[in-house]
Amino acid sequence: MNNLHIEAPAIIYHLAPGGRLQGRVQVPGDKSISHRAVMFAALAEGVSEITGFLSGEDCLCTMRAFRAMGVHIEQLAPTHLRVHGVGLHGLKAPDAPLDLGNSGTSMRLMSGLLAGQTFACEMIGDASLSRRPMRRIVEPLRQMGARIDTTERGTAPLKINPSKGLSGISYASPVASAQVKSGLLLAGLYAQGRTEVREPGISRDHTERMLRAFGVDVETGDGVAAVRGGQSLRASNVAVPADISSATFFMVGAAIVPGSDLLLEQVGINPTRDGIIEILRRMGVRIELLNQRDLGGEPVADLRVVAPEQLKAIDIGHDLVTLAIDEMPAVFVAAACAGGQTVITGAEELRVKESDRIAAMCDGLRALGVNAVAEPDGARITGGTLHGGTVDSRGDHRIAMSFAMAALRADGPITVLDCANVDTSFPGFAALAKRAGLAISVHSQA
Ligand code: S3P
Repeated sequence: MNNLHIEAPAIIYHLAPGGRLQGRVQVPGDKSISHRAVMFAALAEGVSEITGFLSGEDCLCTMRAFRAMGVHIEQLAPTHLRVHGVGLHGLKAPDAPLDLGNSGTSMRLMSGLLAGQTFACEMIGDASLSRRPMRRIVEPLRQMGARIDTTERGTAPLKINPSKGLSGISYASPVASAQVKSGLLLAGLYAQGRTEVREPGISRDHTERMLRAFGVDVETGDGVAAVRGGQSLRASNVAVPADISSATFFMVGAAIVPGSDLLLEQVGINPTRDGIIEILRRMGVRIELLNQRDLGGEPVADLRVVAPEQLKAIDIGHDLVTLAIDEMPAVFVAAACAGGQTVITGAEELRVKESDRIAAMCDGLRALGVNAVAEPDGARITGGTLHGGTVDSRGDHRIAMSFAMAALRADGPITVLDCANVDTSFPGFAALAKRAGLAISVHSQA
C-alpha cells in the first residue's frame, strides 16, 4: 500500500487494582477546537495566537501539514502557537504527501479545504486512518466539482486534484458528522454561491462558532449550517478550553469509586458535546458546574464530580449517544460498574472510529470477566465485578484510557496493550492520572 506512515513503538500500561481519584485536574486542550484553530488561523489574513493548544499527535499532524503548505507557525511553548496566516488563497503545494497519522478530523476537514486549492496534493494516514470511511466527505465534495481519488474501498490515500472551480450545493448528509459538515463548509468558502449542509441529528458546532470569530458569516438553525463562498477570514486569537472528551476518563474514574470527589478545571461544556454529563447524572453521579464562563465563544466550567455509593444502570439511546460519541468507551466502563444492565442503542458510528469501539470495549470487558454483549448498533452491559486481565486497546487512544480507569474498580492487575496512540489526544495522560490517584506504570517495547 502507498502508505509512508511509520507506526509508533509499542506502549503498555500496567495498572495495579484499586485507588481513588482526588483533587484538582486540568486536562489538555480540546482536540476538535485545536485542529480548527490551526486551520482557520492559517487561512486567515494576519497573525493569530492560539493558547491552550493540544500538543497531541493529531493536532501536531495538522500543524505540520500547514507548515508543509508554506504557513509559518511558531510554537512558542507546547500549548502556545503563533500562526502567520496566508489568506484563503495563500497555501502552497506541499513537496510530499501530507501524513495525517491517526487523525480523521485532519483528513476530513482538509479534504474540503484542499478541494478548493489550485494545486494537487495527497493525504495519507496510519493503518487505522487508512481503514476509515472517506466517501462520506468525498462524495459531496465531488458534487461540488472536486476531483478526489480514493482507494476502491473509498479510503485513504486521498489524491486531491485541482478542480475547475467549486460550486455551492445544498447537501442532506445521511450521517450527523461534524467532520463532514466542517469539510463541506470549508470547501464552501472556495465555492461559487452558497453551500448548505443539513444533518439528521446534532453534531458538534465548533466550526460554526470559530468561523464566526474569524469574521465569516455562517448561517445556522434547524439542523442546517451554511456559508457563502468568497468570504475571507480575519486573524483572531483562540483560547482553547480543556477537552471534555479527555476529562471524561477522569469523570468516569471518579464516578466508579464511592467516596471520590474530583474537580476538573476549565472544561469545555459546549451543548453539542455535553452528553457525558447527562449520562453520568442519570447513573447517579453528582456533577456540579462551577464558575461557568465563556472562553472565546465556547462555554466552559469547572466540573466537580462526586461518586454515588452505587451507580445505576440506564438505557442510552441515539440522541444522547450523538452528544457523547467520543465518550462512549468510558461509558462502557461506568456501565460495567453499575447495578443492573445498561443498554446502549443507536451507536453504530462507534464501529468506524479509530477502532471498532463496540467490539473493542465488549471484548475488553469480557476479558475482565464482565458480561458485555455487542449489538450492531450498541451493547448490553451487565454490571458486576471487574477482574484483572489483559486488554487489547487496538491502538485506539480512547479504548486504552477507558481500560486504564477500569483498574480503579478491578480486583486484580490490568494490562492494557498498544497504548502509544494515547499521545494523539492526551499527551501526559499517565503522569496526570498517577498524580490524581491511578496506580499506572508505562512500559515501552522497542
Ligand atoms: C470530530 C467529530 C466527531 C468526533 C471526532 C472529532 C470533529 O467525528 O467523533 O473525534 O472534530 O469534528 P464525526 O464527525 O465522524 O462524528
